[in-house]
Amino acid sequence: MSQGNKGAALVTGASSGIGAVYAERLARRGHDLVLAARDAARLEALAARLRAEAGVTVEVIRADLTVRDDLAVLESRLRDDPAIELLINNAGAAYFTPFAASDPDQLENLIQLNVVAVTRLAAAAAAGFVARGRGAIVNIGSIVGLSPEFKSTVYGATKAFVLYLTQSLNEELAGSGVRLQAVLPGATRTEIWDRSGRGIETVPSEILMDVNDLVDAAIAGFDQGELVTIPSLPDAADWQALEAARLRLGPNLSRSHPAARYGVAVREPA
Ligand SMILES: NC(=O)c1ccc[n+]([C@@H]2O[C@H](COP(=O)([O-])OP(=O)(O)OC[C@H]3O[C@@H](n4cnc5c(N)ncnc54)[C@H](OP(=O)(O)O)[C@@H]3O)[C@@H](O)[C@H]2O)c1
Repeated sequence: MSQGNKGAALVTGASSGIGAVYAERLARRGHDLVLAARDAARLEALAARLRAEAGVTVEVIRADLTVRDDLAVLESRLRDDPAIELLINNAGAAYFTPFAASDPDQLENLIQLNVVAVTRLAAAAAAGFVARGRGAIVNIGSIVGLSPEFKSTVYGATKAFVLYLTQSLNEELAGSGVRLQAVLPGATRTEIWDRSGRGIETVPSEILMDVNDLVDAAIAGFDQGELVTIPSLPDAADWQALEAARLRLGPNLSRSHPAARYGVAVREPA
């Protein structure tokens, strides 16, 4: 997405919502595309439109990212195809059933999609991009990952994982030529609500963003060099203050003895 970089982009979850809008915006910017999701017919329809409108090459890969063999196809593509310079790690689902009433198999499936697939794709992209000295990985998280008060326990935990993965990978890959971005949407008008069983009509309109606006802001954040983009947040200083508070903990997070308030008689090293 960066200026002058017109490498190909691989977009997961491109058949609807945020991923479909990313595909459209990237095509308009002149990126060739590889689009992945389970619904091949929707992907093919989008691909045909983008080829006609933007004149870019668009390939469709039908993949269920909870299936190891399907995931492996995308992983080898990211690792080995030098044309691909951008991963939009977007495919995901939500699950809002209270934790104690949850179906453990559905929780596992959610973690498989939102955590395992995201991790394996990021790892494959990182391997390929680092070897080639360029590329960008955009991971779609959620503000729910910052908000345990919402009680979307496992969905939120998967999205907290995505934020940490991105921040830590950014530290690891510093100087490699590979860029990272975590995008943390708030409530956005897509199919994810109905798919999760929580109808979109239950979401107050004053907190619901249009998906086109969301993706435009996310891309603007990328172009501005942000590591973490929260499209709704009016004042970036609020995020920076949270980060500064976290970093202030740093020197005291691992010490040779417990804090005095625990009243532990400190043992001398043997
Ligand atoms: N909408 C929001 O309010 C919101 C807020 C914060 C974060 N997000 C995040 O944004 C991302 C995109 O979601 P969205 O809102 O655009 O929802 P969406 O319209 O439901 O899109 C989800 C995409 O993921 C794909 N997908 C789902 N399960 C898959 C699987 N097993 N294998 C491969 N692809 C799969 C879907 O395609 P197929 O069904 O064709 O496979 C679809 O293209 C997700 O990571 C979500 O957590 C959304």
